[in-house]
Amino acid sequence: MPDEEGPLLEVSGVVKRFTGVLALDRVSLELAPGEVHALVGENGAGKSTLIKVITGVYRPDEGTMRLAGRPAEFAGPLEAQRAGIQAVHQEIGLVPALSVARNLLLGREPRRRFGTLDVGRMHREAGEILASYGIDVDVRRPLRSLGVGVQQMVALARAVSVDARVVVMDEPTSSLEPREVETLFGVVRRLRERAVSVIYVSHRLDELYRICDGVTVLRDGRVVHQGPLAELDRLRLVSLMLGRPVADVRQGGVTRFSGGHDAARETPVVEASGLTRRHVLDDVSVAIRPGEVVGLGGLLGAGRTETAKAIAGALPLDGGRVTVAGTPLRRGSAAAAIRAGVALLPEDRKAEGVIGTLSVRENIALAALPRLSRAGLVSEARIDRIVDTFMRRLRIKAAGPHQRVAELSGGNQQKVLLARWLATEPKILLLDEPTRGIDVGAKAEVQALIDELAEDGLGVLLISADLEELVEGSDRVVVLKDGAVVGELSGGDLTEERVMTTIADAGGGTP
Ligand SMILES: Nc1ncnc2c1ncn2[C@@H]1O[C@H](COP(=O)(O)OP(=O)(O)OP(=O)(O)O)[C@@H](O)[C@H]1O
Ligand SMILES: [Mg+2]
Repeated sequence: MPDEEGPLLEVSGVVKRFTGVLALDRVSLELAPGEVHALVGENGAGKSTLIKVITGVYRPDEGTMRLAGRPAEFAGPLEAQRAGIQAVHQEIGLVPALSVARNLLLGREPRRRFGTLDVGRMHREAGEILASYGIDVDVRRPLRSLGVGVQQMVALARAVSVDARVVVMDEPTSSLEPREVETLFGVVRRLRERAVSVIYVSHRLDELYRICDGVTVLRDGRVVHQGPLAELDRLRLVSLMLGRPVADVRQGGVTRFSGGHDAARETPVVEASGLTRRHVLDDVSVAIRPGEVVGLGGLLGAGRTETAKAIAGALPLDGGRVTVAGTPLRRGSAAAAIRAGVALLPEDRKAEGVIGTLSVRENIALAALPRLSRAGLVSEARIDRIVDTFMRRLRIKAAGPHQRVAELSGGNQQKVLLARWLATEPKILLLDEPTRGIDVGAKAEVQALIDELAEDGLGVLLISADLEELVEGSDRVVVLKDGAVVGELSGGDLTEERVMTTIADAGGGTP
């Protein structure tokens, strides 16, 4: 039996090196039973690496771990799981084609006497497990028919229903809607009541303050602060993360992109009208003026991503047209849109985003190359200059411009992608969840960069599941529901609450 007073998990003096990087430098951490512990730090600070050591993915080069007072050494993630350490990442170990119930009970499905699956009992048990965490879904549906958020909830319920003692969550809410975040928090509270400990990694500081007890701040692989989170105010937390004096940290504003541009008089840089695609978009019109940031509000599946894709010529349409600086684009032609200066930062970055085997430099230069080449000649020095500028301004943490992107931390990969599109000097920038996984310091830099581009007449379309970011970052928010525009908010009407009520008050009905 563990010592009642002692910590449940004890990490001491852990060191982890990669070629050229000391990712963890003598990191120690104690986790009390039932404690929810925040792990914070800027992109590349070592959070994911520490979590991979704790969950048995990496062996530490030095240092030890103890679980409930006993030495813990894991040869792999499976061993860590057997010891009761569960990691929740998106889509881990789940089978999209199988039902929710089957996924939840995979490997321990109830069977009848001769080994056949007891489907009735499986559905009942799965329903009970989910209900006990406040998750309400039809367990017979195939997992892939549900939104990413719900899938993540199932992964979470699965992880915690198998006798977990420590549950580790690395940016669990990055693709969740506000309502799903509440459900997740409900799960975390229930875990805490059962004396299960949680390590929680997130760049959304407001979330941390709502559910975490203790905090560890990492900077460059080293622990720079440890203690109760309630005793550390937000400004000081950010200053510790970034290693800058409190006075230098801009209060608020860290989620702001732009806003406050007096754009009302100018003609739109992009005008999309009557965008229609059966079952997806129903007569959607949006106009963006130079220097303006227009947000798209709405729930998952409301048609936000599709609207951005339609403007970028990346979605076949049944009707509607897109005009850039007065010139109509050929419908459904992504090439025409790119030539006209439309840049889309896609939501699904694994499928459409960074190329892990290429270097940071190659990834950034990729989209800007056509612009940089004169008669087929590209000046290497010019590329170097651009790459250097963006690496510096976005604080991209890498061994150098030639490091492979696959070796960067999650947030730094995201910054590389953002740099790629900013480097094309677009007229219109369509940003689908641009700061997912990006730390607060870099968010402020992204904002400053976009402000600069806005001065040159750039128009921005912003999609974000983070309502705070959407409201603070936009001059105006167009609200979508079921593929149609149901409202527009600006000025004093532009609040998180008004966005939610606009969605709720709009009638249903699919196009
Ligand atoms: N497989 C690898 N090879 C080389 N270097 C790596 C590898 N994995 C991580 N690193 C480096 O280790 C450091 C810590 O990365 P880690 O992924 O732990 O950061 P993080 O705190 O999770 O950041 P983020 O907020 O961006 O997710 C970074 O400098 C990263 O480039
Ligand atoms: Mg990470």
